[in-house]
Amino acid sequence: MHIHPYERRWIQFSIGMLIVFGLAIIVSNVFLGINIPGIANSAEPVISLEETEAIEPGVRELGPGRYEVHMTAQVWRFEPSEVRIPVGSTVTFYLYSKDIIHGFKIPNTTLSLMIIPGQVGKMTYTFTEPGEYPIICHEYCGAGHHNMSGTLIVEE
Ligand code: CUA
Repeated sequence: MHIHPYERRWIQFSIGMLIVFGLAIIVSNVFLGINIPGIANSAEPVISLEETEAIEPGVRELGPGRYEVHMTAQVWRFEPSEVRIPVGSTVTFYLYSKDIIHGFKIPNTTLSLMIIPGQVGKMTYTFTEPGEYPIICHEYCGAGHHNMSGTLIVEE
């Protein structure tokens, strides 16, 4: 079958782009640790409203450089709204919603997920850079959504 040279170029270019995009997914996943949110690493089995109410929000030290943060979300605040950890710490976040769907995002990290009522959001990250990191709700949750935020301070 005859294919016009110009069209052949476009076919080659299209296939090339598919390969580039495929490689971009593999590189971002394997080398940069960026994952497509899956039920496997974002949500643990169901938690009841009573259990959620009983959560004591706060930071817990598990060992040297290892922390757990249990954080609740409700209109329109996170609790605790301020978290302090030393630089180099590996932090596992457990996120619970007391009412509706909220978001949890710390820009310039791989931390980003939806906080779904009845589920426990779980993510781990190692903070190697000191500084102040904003914690933002990035799921629209009503009139006060834009004010729903917190701060994570990584201390030297
Ligand atoms: Cu909570 Cu938006």
